[in-house]
Amino acid sequence: MDIRTTSGMIQDIKADAVIVNLFEGKGPSGATGAIDKALSGMISALRETGDLKGKLNEVTVLYPRGAILAGRVIVVGLGKAGEFTLDRARQAAGSAAKKAHDLGGKSIAAITFGAGAGEFDAQAAAQATVEGILLGLYEFRVHKSAPAERGPVESLTLVEADASKLAAVEAGARVGRILAEATNFARDLVNQPSNHMTPHILADAARDMAAQNKLKYEVLGLEQMAELGMGAFMGVTQGSDEPPQFILLEHKPDAGQPVIFVGKGITFDSGGISIKPSEKMEDMKGDMAGAAAVIGAMQAVAQLDLPMHVVAFAPACENLPSGHAYKPGDVLKAMNGKTIEVISTDAEGRLILADALCYAARYNPSAVIDLATLTGACVIALGDMVAAGIFSNDDDLSARLSEAATKAGEKLWRLPLYEEYKEKIKSEVADMKNTGGRGGGVGASAIFLKEFTSYPWAHLDIAPMSLNDSNSPYTPKGGTGFGVRTLVEFLRARVPS
Ligand code: BES
Ligand code: MN
Ligand code: ZN
Repeated sequence: MDIRTTSGMIQDIKADAVIVNLFEGKGPSGATGAIDKALSGMISALRETGDLKGKLNEVTVLYPRGAILAGRVIVVGLGKAGEFTLDRARQAAGSAAKKAHDLGGKSIAAITFGAGAGEFDAQAAAQATVEGILLGLYEFRVHKSAPAERGPVESLTLVEADASKLAAVEAGARVGRILAEATNFARDLVNQPSNHMTPHILADAARDMAAQNKLKYEVLGLEQMAELGMGAFMGVTQGSDEPPQFILLEHKPDAGQPVIFVGKGITFDSGGISIKPSEKMEDMKGDMAGAAAVIGAMQAVAQLDLPMHVVAFAPACENLPSGHAYKPGDVLKAMNGKTIEVISTDAEGRLILADALCYAARYNPSAVIDLATLTGACVIALGDMVAAGIFSNDDDLSARLSEAATKAGEKLWRLPLYEEYKEKIKSEVADMKNTGGRGGGVGASAIFLKEFTSYPWAHLDIAPMSLNDSNSPYTPKGGTGFGVRTLVEFLRARVPS
């Protein structure tokens, strides 16, 4: 999509639809007030009848019939002014843009949401507005034979009345576009079914993205994994006929100690010999959402040209049962020499992450952040599409990630790394086992990972947030791209100003 910014009055813009907004319980002011005036008070009249309330994500379409140049005016509610956040701006902008698209609009214009009466700075508001619009318009139609009923929205114009704020709006729009496109790229990777997103195809997608964005790309194959002693990862992949791929992306290798992102890349999780029930097993094509998030984040890191050393690992393989699959009771040795008794072959994510976390130590990282669709227990604890869990051995790192998540409109809820969880994974035959008992499954998974870390580290269990099973204002059904924007906002906040 072509995104422009212009200074002027929204009522003078020619577009298939112009988008303005309204707080609940407040009259139209600013740009919305100017539109109201140009339409002889239509918005005020609709407020008086109660047809238009300004409730969050309430969308009303008005037809100016020549009173202004635009074919339609879309008024979207922001909810109560006292409850306003930038995420509400993102949601409302997404809701309005989807309406414009549903009506066949090709060119849309919008004011920056949240900058006027919302009182956020113009750059942050423009960023949130563009994110909401581009994320809300996302569709995955790769495997549909029929063309979409509506063509894509081709252009977005952000209109800023105050010329002195135009540069800030432009800067915000650019960041918003980069973050939304990186998120939508991650969504594409997650939405592909596993026969179209094998470890090899995932590696190729990362390679192509790296080539386009001047990132260093490398992949370790089975032979190199064997040389490195990645026995835990090798145990998981051995049941599959698809070769495993340990994907590495690197930005500015000479810029000091790196931040490392690690993403779980199980391209299909059947559970292996500890096979999962067939109901909803198709969702396990999304078990590489962590890998998708770190690959997507690297695209944004490169495009923003962040002045720091950043590395991403995406260990990728399938978890399948077969005559050569690993089995319950097997003992595996991770790269750091620790031995693991396999209780469930369905607790595979922590095994591939164990070796990836060991490998990260070689870079002397300043921080390592892993993202993984690791446990159903985290979904039970926090709820589907409510929040992801965060565990960390470093309070400052945890706090900074939470701040970044808030900025991104993504929720992280901190869960404890109590030593007691270690009791649950004690093994009779090896240094530890890969699952605990029935209770505390998410804590046991995190304490397991901790055994393989030796640096400031945070683990995000994104199982609750990886797939959306209904449509939300800017997160359509399917892969969400969760984590991309949190990771990038985390890095952006580390840039010295
Ligand atoms: N990929 C799953 C976790 C998952 C569940 C992700 C639901 C997304 C939605 C993971 O590999 C898994 O199977 N975990 C097991 C661990 C158990 C065997 C200790 C689980 O949560 O049941
Ligand atoms: Mn599993
Ligand atoms: Zn899994």
